[in-house]
Amino acid sequence: MSFEAVLPDDELWVGEMRGLLVQGRRVLIVRTDDAVCAYADRCAHLGVPLSQGKLEGGVITCSAHHYQYDARTGRGINPESVRLEAFPVRIEGGRIEVDVEATLEASA
Ligand code: FES
Repeated sequence: MSFEAVLPDDELWVGEMRGLLVQGRRVLIVRTDDAVCAYADRCAHLGVPLSQGKLEGGVITCSAHHYQYDARTGRGINPESVRLEAFPVRIEGGRIEVDVEATLEASA
């Protein structure tokens, strides 16, 4: 595991998401009501950065063709057959840290 600080914890509010470059990878950081999650910032359809889309009601919607994902799990909502690559996240010393070398399995 190799966590890297990417953002002060207080700079990402509930309902916000942000696209960042972490170790050369585009990463999407999302804060939902109960968690901070990190995903590869690329839509499973054609790879458009999801940070250009919107986050509403716990749903990430791609700006290009409106694929939708559950912000808490990265699982596809429409269509259900896709999912985002998820990375481990932790909050340490007031900073959001992400490990882009590890990939999480999407939660059930
Ligand atoms: S690239 Fe995201 S829906 Fe097509």
